[in-house]
Amino acid sequence: MERFDGRVVALTGAASGVGRATAIRLAGEGARVAGLDIDEPGLAETAELAGGMATIRCDVARRDDCHAAIEQVIADHGRLDVFGNIAGIARSHHVPDVTEQDWDRMVAVNLSGVFWCAQAAIPHLLATEGVLINIASNAGLIGQAYTVPYCATKGAVVNMTRALAMEYAKTGLRVNAIAPGGVQTPLVANYQMPDDVDYTLMAGYMGFRTMSQPEDIAAAFAFLASDEARQVHGAVLSVDAGLTAG
Ligand SMILES: NC(=O)c1ccc[n+]([C@@H]2O[C@H](COP(=O)([O-])OP(=O)(O)OC[C@H]3O[C@@H](n4cnc5c(N)ncnc54)[C@H](O)[C@@H]3O)[C@@H](O)[C@H]2O)c1
Repeated sequence: MERFDGRVVALTGAASGVGRATAIRLAGEGARVAGLDIDEPGLAETAELAGGMATIRCDVARRDDCHAAIEQVIADHGRLDVFGNIAGIARSHHVPDVTEQDWDRMVAVNLSGVFWCAQAAIPHLLATEGVLINIASNAGLIGQAYTVPYCATKGAVVNMTRALAMEYAKTGLRVNAIAPGGVQTPLVANYQMPDDVDYTLMAGYMGFRTMSQPEDIAAAFAFLASDEARQVHGAVLSVDAGLTAG
């Protein structure tokens, strides 16, 4: 008997990094997984690595896409037990260089997308007394230079998680967040700092340990999604090797 036997799990960002590792982990523990992402080849690759996964193209920045994708999961599987808001984007800039387009896209994907998917998933999660897990960031708990829009969206995800936990406090739904530190994924590999940054501003949150692997975040996700975490509600679980401890 596996922890997620008979459970239906839907994850955004499942084409890469943390989302892919989480899909593989939960499928390995018996879940039927649906992956939602804009990257269809990446989704197909995850499906192969996970030994099978339903794939749905979904741009989380679009409310209609989020609602349609979750309706598709229900049409295909009849229920939803766990929803993971994992999709996200990150960029580094000096404040004066942030364009309206940069700001709007960051907010649309990292913040609005989390809300639209939560809005669509919650009625189904209430029916199963399920679990909603949002991937925030250490950047949502502390201020970090050169990533003001990203920090703003992730801080909002932290408090959205708590607000959702309060609104549904009297139900069987659990809502939690994970705040990873640095994780070795394409998001980090493709991350470019502006040329003329002051690295001493960042020394305080560079940490002393190695970066996490996506599987480390998937393991925390699996715990929060499981019945073993039945008393964990409204929590923001840091998985950051101590980055935000000091
Ligand atoms: N990697 C890190 O160091 C780190 C640290 C803290 C938090 N996080 C968060 O973890 C989450 C996963 O990041 P990752 O490191 O695995 O990155 P990643 O780039 O490997 O994966 C992100 C996924 O999100 C998808 N995505 C992007 N925009 C989308 C959209 N509009 N609609 C649907 N899907 C979209 C991408 O196609 C990709 O598959 C993100 O929310 C990120 O902010 C990452």
